[in-house]
Amino acid sequence: MTGTLNFAIVGCGGITLQNHLPGLALCPEVKVTALCDADGATLERARRQTGVTITSTDYEDIVRREDIHAVIIATPNYVHPTIALAAIAQGKHVLCEKPLALNYADAKAMADAADRGNVRHMTAFTYRFVPAMQYLNHLIKRGDLGQPYHYRSCRLQDWGTRNLGWRQVKKLAGSGELGDMLSHRIDFAHLLVGPMQRLVANTKILHHDREGKPSDLDDWVGILADFRSGATGVLESSKLASGRNESWRSLDYVEINGSEASFVFTTGEWNKLQTGKVGGSGLESLAVPREFWSWPGSSRDPQAGDPLVTFRYDQAWEFVDAIRNQRRCVPDFHDGARAQAVMEAANESAESGRWFDLPAEN
Ligand SMILES: NC(=O)c1ccc[n+]([C@@H]2O[C@H](COP(=O)([O-])OP(=O)(O)OC[C@H]3O[C@@H](n4cnc5c(N)ncnc54)[C@H](O)[C@@H]3O)[C@@H](O)[C@H]2O)c1
Repeated sequence: MTGTLNFAIVGCGGITLQNHLPGLALCPEVKVTALCDADGATLERARRQTGVTITSTDYEDIVRREDIHAVIIATPNYVHPTIALAAIAQGKHVLCEKPLALNYADAKAMADAADRGNVRHMTAFTYRFVPAMQYLNHLIKRGDLGQPYHYRSCRLQDWGTRNLGWRQVKKLAGSGELGDMLSHRIDFAHLLVGPMQRLVANTKILHHDREGKPSDLDDWVGILADFRSGATGVLESSKLASGRNESWRSLDYVEINGSEASFVFTTGEWNKLQTGKVGGSGLESLAVPREFWSWPGSSRDPQAGDPLVTFRYDQAWEFVDAIRNQRRCVPDFHDGARAQAVMEAANESAESGRWFDLPAEN
């Protein structure tokens, strides 16, 4: 597709301002044409900040417009499927925030509808765009890990007891730490080690009240998994790791051990990995080569701005490039649905105390 691509954004809160608008601003021949937010004051703030004049509090008004080619959905999780299906029905390309839905059936229905509609579809697993994660993926695909033995991820933040808005309400978010933070690390696992076969999980609500408002979602989650490749998985994520700080200033750790080597990734070390060879004397630092500092083809200058923030902008570039070249987005709705199946199994396992098998198509 050539010429200017017109975008609409539905949901003009935190992630739209932090990631989507600056990312789209770096893409040539892309225009944010319309904005939607259910909250009038948030919409007005976004209108003033962007100068976009077409606005609505109703997503239907926006996705119906013929001058819109693509829609970014950045609302609370429960409404992602409804908006995505409406946009797909109008032939729009869709980038949807994670987690795609509240359950696997809805996420899979989104992926299937987007395929049937022949539109580009992308799940915002933003941390795939960290240069060190890209390089790690490259090394593993090249065979440097050998046979995968163990995948381990640990995401530790200190969010204390503060109110989390819709993020602490099950009917709006679906899950707590599991969908909010662990979903990205489940996606890393799929990328690096392949599909899971079965899992057992536990979740914990340690604060049932956050600043006077009820919280019915997990503050902590742990998953023990078997991958189809035979590798084992241990995944943990917490909002209550006191003193660990938040966001990219806190711990986001992935370690993979294989028959040939081990690799360690942390988001905070955006251009470094640690590695050790089998039988070696310990881990050492491995610099990420310059060609991995931005996404293939992206015109973003990796040395402009804070690299712990700006890698996220390559997500918009990937979506735009996939639309222009009519190719699959990486990661797409099927990747989002695959992670959703793991989240659903983890919730069911935490409730029942039993191991759960993942769907065969996963
Ligand atoms: N990819 C990432 O790294 C990342 C990071 C943060 C958030 N997220 C995801 O992005 C989404 C939004 O998170 P956020 O932090 O921006 O939340 P937010 O609360 O800051 O913003 C959400 C906005 O959606 C609006 N909204 C609610 N219902 C709506 C509807 N029906 N139609 C239109 N607008 C509606 C709200 O008024 C609000 O302004 C969530 O799915 C979250 O999981 C992803």
